[in-house]
Amino acid sequence: MKINDNYKNLETSYLFSTVKRKVKEFCDKNPDKKVIRLGIGDVTRPLCKSVIAAMHNAVDEMGTYKGFHGYGPEQGYDFLKEKIQSYYLKNNVKLELNEIFISDGAKSDVGNILDLFSIENKVLIPDPVYPAYVDTNIMNGRKITYIKADKENDFLPIPNDSYKADIAYICSPNNPTGAVYTKEQLKIWVDWALKNNAIIIYDAAYECFIERDSELPKSIFEIEGAKKCALEICSLSKMAGFTGTRCGYTVVPNDLNFDDMNLNKMWLRRQTTKFNGVAYIIQRGAEAVFSEEGQKEIRENINYYKNNARIMAQTLTKHNIYFTGGVNSPYIWLKCPNNMGSWEFFDYLLNEIGIVGTPGAGFGKFGEGYLRLTAFGTYEDTKEAMERLDKLLS
Ligand code: MLT
Repeated sequence: MKINDNYKNLETSYLFSTVKRKVKEFCDKNPDKKVIRLGIGDVTRPLCKSVIAAMHNAVDEMGTYKGFHGYGPEQGYDFLKEKIQSYYLKNNVKLELNEIFISDGAKSDVGNILDLFSIENKVLIPDPVYPAYVDTNIMNGRKITYIKADKENDFLPIPNDSYKADIAYICSPNNPTGAVYTKEQLKIWVDWALKNNAIIIYDAAYECFIERDSELPKSIFEIEGAKKCALEICSLSKMAGFTGTRCGYTVVPNDLNFDDMNLNKMWLRRQTTKFNGVAYIIQRGAEAVFSEEGQKEIRENINYYKNNARIMAQTLTKHNIYFTGGVNSPYIWLKCPNNMGSWEFFDYLLNEIGIVGTPGAGFGKFGEGYLRLTAFGTYEDTKEAMERLDKLLS
């Protein structure tokens, strides 16, 4: 028996598992210190009322002969897909129901979608970026080229004719930098993909943080031509606090044809074979997120997190620390003071003031020298963390 030895090329553990282990070691040694976790982007606000009510109803239904649901459609129930269809229509994006696939979250789809592509494909990944793109491709043994995202290009690299790849990843609003592509910039990506017969895997997990009245695109399908070269992965985790509830969706347009094969049909074939769908109760909860009341409630939570970001921004500004993000994104991406390295600053913050961030270097080599803070903590913790930081830096 031979193992998949591509695993030998991975870091020993996934970024957030390493952070978790380090924090646990610190807490075991310092049981009296209150640690404030602003590392992994995990939400703290409870599920909103409409979601809870919808899930309660669904539970009751499941206890009756009439309302019981066994296996559902692997690609999700129409009642939820219709709501997502209307959500996209608000941005003038028209989707067919069969282009929407409900999943248990963006991370699963980020990994699973690679089933559709040959391992010979060359992959283009911005750096720094969400580490799951890199790790899932390494597991498959694909060759990765990294594109530098830095201060000079506002953390928004743009392709040119010298970029040769078959698969390109875009995360906008970006995790970790919070940078958001404009429509004009995305159009350059779409034109590049069409010209090079490449596919764009577009991660829109943070679209709900884009200011609603801004012109910034919330979906790549707002760009002409994108349905022929892009698929989009979305999540209810950050939008509606589903990190533990698990529900997301992926849009695979009917127009995605490569090598005489249709990607929508391939994905349907893949999902029906390897996935049995998201629980009925969870999909009813997800449906409620898109109701008028649900949207109002989740907006309150999003604004709460954005207020946390403002509090962090104020402290960093006061101490002249360079940072980006926090406006159309729940993340603040900051330059470590005194030229400290990412892990060095991570350790310094943890040991000195009990604050956990995520080291920028964990998002790629060009993230070295940066640290990411999340705005998903509670207001009280965020305020206390910034008071501690203010004191440390004063
Ligand atoms: C993050 O902190 O980057 C995210 O929470 C990780 C994830 O969404 O899997």
